[in-house]
Amino acid sequence: MTSVENKSILRVLAGERCQPPPMWLMRQAGRYLPEYRALREKAGSFLDLCFNSELAAEVTLQPVRRFGFDAAILFSDILVVPHALGQQVSFAAGEGPRLAPVIGRDGLKTIAGKIDLESLRAVFETIQIVRTQLPREVALLGFCGAPWTVATYMVAGCGTPDQAPARLFAYRDPEIFGTLIDILIEASVDYLAAQLEAGVDAVQLFDTWAGVLGPDEFARWCVAPAKRIVAGLRRRVPDAKIIGFPRGAGTLLKTYVESVDVDAIGLDWMVDRGFARDEIQRLRPVQGNVDPLALLAGGAALDREVDAILGDLGDGPLIFNLGHGILPETPIGHVERMIARVRERRGSLT
Ligand code: CP3
Repeated sequence: MTSVENKSILRVLAGERCQPPPMWLMRQAGRYLPEYRALREKAGSFLDLCFNSELAAEVTLQPVRRFGFDAAILFSDILVVPHALGQQVSFAAGEGPRLAPVIGRDGLKTIAGKIDLESLRAVFETIQIVRTQLPREVALLGFCGAPWTVATYMVAGCGTPDQAPARLFAYRDPEIFGTLIDILIEASVDYLAAQLEAGVDAVQLFDTWAGVLGPDEFARWCVAPAKRIVAGLRRRVPDAKIIGFPRGAGTLLKTYVESVDVDAIGLDWMVDRGFARDEIQRLRPVQGNVDPLALLAGGAALDREVDAILGDLGDGPLIFNLGHGILPETPIGHVERMIARVRERRGSLT
């Protein structure tokens, strides 16, 4: 068998329906796992952990060992890209990311025009180490943040409730903001191509903040850059497999799926699933979309959510996942319950 046939995630990305659906979770490596917390304590800062390839590989493998997921996702962060563009990035314990904000034309002069991939060598080494240790049937996913989402942190210097600083920048000075987006498009293509060359099977483009944009801004700052990244990446790596995740896009997902040639669409938990099935999954495999709070709640609410997803989207190509990252407070027993429920329905649905 070729590696594609071995890996259920890649079969779904090629348009096949697998039963039960293959499964992984966004942020599956992280603080809800005691083995992550133990290792995290030893590593120093969060970025030290991302750039320690032995430890980052170990953290990548932890959730696959514990739960038998069908994919591992490279342990890193979307903000290593601003770091590799020369911006100061740090993670304050319990407070999230802190960056030296890029403000206006002068701010733009403080970052490099091209990504320094050499400074990310540890990330590519992590990929190589994970590759040698993953079971053959488990896919390895790489990722980067989409330009809009990465720019929101570069401009604000931290997370904000609605990413107002970047939205204001884009309204006030679209040309300069567009230059920042152009730099990020090129950086993303270089970075994702290098991840694929190092050995990931597929990549996900996280546009976590797509949902704060109105339709015109969504077209300009989310759809157009994604389109250019996909085209640029396919020129470099023709068979690159790409999952697009424009979180919060709602009905604008339709314009995304019609314009951006991704292999699958990540669905957040807010989307109407009838719409997702009829308008999105009809065109492309989908991934998602358990509400992370339903997983945190567990019990009947979680069971209902799992059943609804399998009922609404299980007849087509589906990668079972959350609709956004797992929350640190999530009990491990709830993750186990969800996995068992997705997998136990094998016999009953086919
Ligand atoms: O398991 C995985 O999914 C792989 C690793 C991964 C991390 N971040 C590790 C991480 C991935 C894919 C990301 C993506 C990421 N990072 C996104 C896009 C997806 C999303 O969740 O919205 C964004 C917006 C970021 C930026 C970021 N990184 C923020 C806002 C924070 C602070 C909030 C938080 O959850 O702590 C981080 C820190 C971060 N990235 C942690 C982890 C495990 C927690 C840090 C720690 O362990 O101390």
